[in-house]
Amino acid sequence: MTAGELHKPVLLDEAVEGLIRQIDGVYIDGTFGRGGHSGAILRVLSSQGKLLAIDKDMDAVNSSQAKKLLTDKRFELAHGSFADMDQLANERQWRGKVDGILLDLGVSSPQLDVAERGFSFMKDGPLDMRMDTTQGESAAQWLSHVEENELIGVLREYGEEKFARRIAAEIVLQRQEKPIETTAQLASLIANVVTRREPGKHPATRSFQAIRIKINKELDDLDQALLNSIDILKPGGRLAVISFHSLEDRRVKRFIREKSRGDVVPRHLPLPVDAKKPVLKPVGKALKANADEVAGNVRSRSAVLRVAEKI
Ligand SMILES: C[S@@+](CC[C@H](N)C(=O)[O-])C[C@H]1O[C@@H](n2cnc3c(N)ncnc32)[C@H](O)[C@@H]1O
Repeated sequence: MTAGELHKPVLLDEAVEGLIRQIDGVYIDGTFGRGGHSGAILRVLSSQGKLLAIDKDMDAVNSSQAKKLLTDKRFELAHGSFADMDQLANERQWRGKVDGILLDLGVSSPQLDVAERGFSFMKDGPLDMRMDTTQGESAAQWLSHVEENELIGVLREYGEEKFARRIAAEIVLQRQEKPIETTAQLASLIANVVTRREPGKHPATRSFQAIRIKINKELDDLDQALLNSIDILKPGGRLAVISFHSLEDRRVKRFIREKSRGDVVPRHLPLPVDAKKPVLKPVGKALKANADEVAGNVRSRSAVLRVAEKI
């Protein structure tokens, strides 16, 4: 296996333990990656169990790990977004019958490690950043026409970047001279205008994260998948989500809280017929990787796992 094919799964045992209640059940892994979690789920399921995995990235779908797992009759793999999970579930008559859905969000190590994918400021490559290279605009294409104010908003909202205004102005200025087409070009442009350094962080970290989230509609996809999960899961079915930054985790946390609460009606009033009832209950507390895992896999440092159960 080459460096571009390796991905160390994060919170593996914790996620599988939180997800699987029924070894004969039907499961969805919305983020196949290199199949670390899918493989572990299949090891726990009985011969009656089923697993559908999804990934946006053709490199994940065509990986050697995918080919190996596809020899297992219980396993299926689809190219697409987990935002369209409801359609994939409907096609299999799985609506309301799924025992567990896992989302291990963000990018995989191979996406970051292969320079040609354009995700990393550490490696020079074409400024692409699409997880699904079969559709949509690359980061270079988007940066060639985005309006300055929209760019400022994206850098602020998705990167929490204090220098958003300066970075956007510099991008707009420089693209008039020469298109911004490589990761190194963008990283050095940002490094030149970000004057205050954060310890241990490359000055382009926040902007690269922001542009990647925008290009891949990561938060929209997450919101859609969370909403769809309620109808896809059966009562007692579990939703397990591993987030890697606060923008994702906040959404997951808020979603579980809201769906666990239902409408609050003052005690002396009758419950309106259309009052929303709680549809989820949180399972345990949010989990983080332990010190051993963090020592062996730096990506796990920011990971947070939340599990909820459909009522
Ligand atoms: C952190 S990795 C998953 C790693 C995987 N759990 C493993 O153990 O190998 C995230 C994967 O999710 C995919 N992905 C991200 N957003 C997606 C979406 N909306 N729909 C489908 N796949 C997505 C990425 O392409 C990437 O391969």
